[in-house]
Amino acid sequence: MKQWTRRNWLKLLGLGSVAAVVEKTSAMGPGVVASASPDQLLFSQPGPEKTVTCIVIGAGARGNIYASYAEKTKGEMKIVGVAEPIELRRTRFSQRYNIDAEKQFNTWEDVFKIPKFADAVLICTPDHLHYSPAMEALKMGYDLLLEKPIAQSWRECEEILEQSRKNNRIVAVCHVLRYTPYFRKMKSVVESGQLGKVISIQHMEPIEHIHMSHSYVRGIWRKKEETNPIILAKSCHDMDILRWITDRRCREMVSFGSLDWFTPKNAPAGSTMRCTDGCAVESTCPYSALKIYYRERTWLYHFNLPPDVEQGEAILRQLKEGNYGRCVYHCDNNVPDHQVCSMTFEDNITATFNMEAHTSYSRRRTRIMGSEGDLVGDESQMTITRFSDMKPEVWKTADHAAIDSGHGGGDYGLVRDFLRAVASQDSTLLSSTLELSMESHLMAFKAEDSRLQGRIVNVNIEAAHD
Ligand SMILES: NC(=O)c1ccc[n+]([C@@H]2O[C@H](COP(=O)([O-])OP(=O)(O)OC[C@H]3O[C@@H](n4cnc5c(N)ncnc54)[C@H](O)[C@@H]3O)[C@@H](O)[C@H]2O)c1
Repeated sequence: MKQWTRRNWLKLLGLGSVAAVVEKTSAMGPGVVASASPDQLLFSQPGPEKTVTCIVIGAGARGNIYASYAEKTKGEMKIVGVAEPIELRRTRFSQRYNIDAEKQFNTWEDVFKIPKFADAVLICTPDHLHYSPAMEALKMGYDLLLEKPIAQSWRECEEILEQSRKNNRIVAVCHVLRYTPYFRKMKSVVESGQLGKVISIQHMEPIEHIHMSHSYVRGIWRKKEETNPIILAKSCHDMDILRWITDRRCREMVSFGSLDWFTPKNAPAGSTMRCTDGCAVESTCPYSALKIYYRERTWLYHFNLPPDVEQGEAILRQLKEGNYGRCVYHCDNNVPDHQVCSMTFEDNITATFNMEAHTSYSRRRTRIMGSEGDLVGDESQMTITRFSDMKPEVWKTADHAAIDSGHGGGDYGLVRDFLRAVASQDSTLLSSTLELSMESHLMAFKAEDSRLQGRIVNVNIEAAHD
């Protein structure tokens, strides 16, 4: 069986020597970098050695995205079971994937009451329901695709790791950015050495103000106690990217941040508890739920909209009764809307990270400063400039990838690698293994400690494992 190591991957992507790739000038114009498309290659390389059977636990937004890979490809993935308490979602999902009646469950516990009937379990439940199903699944010998965050505490992450080792199971954590053509390209540029030694990184996650209001003010991740600190819930991806790109361990962390804006003290005069209550500023408020959900019909993926009723009526009912109709200044949210981190990594690398709610745009911004050149990127393109010739080279995501899944192609990239790893029982095919993902989770846990305690904290993965 062929062992698909990272080196094989880079070779396959034509990135064994990235400097050589960058030097090619394409028909896209001078200075525009030509290279093989990682996403095209993703689908042109051999698929898993056999059809991998999967059970989806939590048929919400993420569960549906990952499962849809089965429709996208032929014979790579078969969905054979589902656990989902919301009947509408469970029925819709079961019909879509033709799941036997006795393999449709109301809750995750029921999946593990019968003998193992699939290769893998996809855990796509809310944050507080990752640990228990993960432990049960591993005990029963299932491989796991585990949504981030791995668990809500470091102790629980450790227990999942111990259990996976004990049962010798594969666990892929859904750090989807590692599987995007854009971040793979960034990683390969750094690895090629064309920037010289990495000296420092500046990284930012602009959440975008409406996204912030939907997820972290009105929505599922608004309360730390019910989910996680936002630096873990939203930004474990960013900690993970910093750890991955530097290929060094984080050593120290200091973090500041607070919930500053989305609080009652900032509620405009005339605002009401709900946007549907006759709010005086509804027509001009950027966060108007009537505007976002009803008039523009956006961000509806957490609404349960039955197909057989008039959609507008159903949306209005939810705005009048549910969390998404609440005024953003009168919610019970408590997670910060801005948080900054400064950190040191091995080899004296320094990095800063900003998590920002108040932006008109999304897509992560990254600047990598190396001894021989720098890289500036915003997910849609990156510019690489070597100090020796000062000729900027531009790599555009759109030119290099036929992206047809969320997170810049990373969602399907992750599923693909996971299926291949399960089919050949080879975890080296995965980028986001449990062990590596835990390192970046530790950074996020420590950032929250630092924010709350107002001090610099050590991030010592070796000691954390003791
Ligand atoms: N990797 C990423 O980039 C990414 C992006 C968004 C969300 N997430 C994570 O994915 C997870 C799911 O998020 P989502 O947006 O899909 O949420 P969601 O609410 O749309 O889906 C979660 C589903 O789990 C179901 N569920 C609740 N209790 C259950 C139980 N006892 N048994 C079985 N199912 C149960 C819910 O009814 C819901 O349908 C969260 O942990 C979230 O943090 C990851």
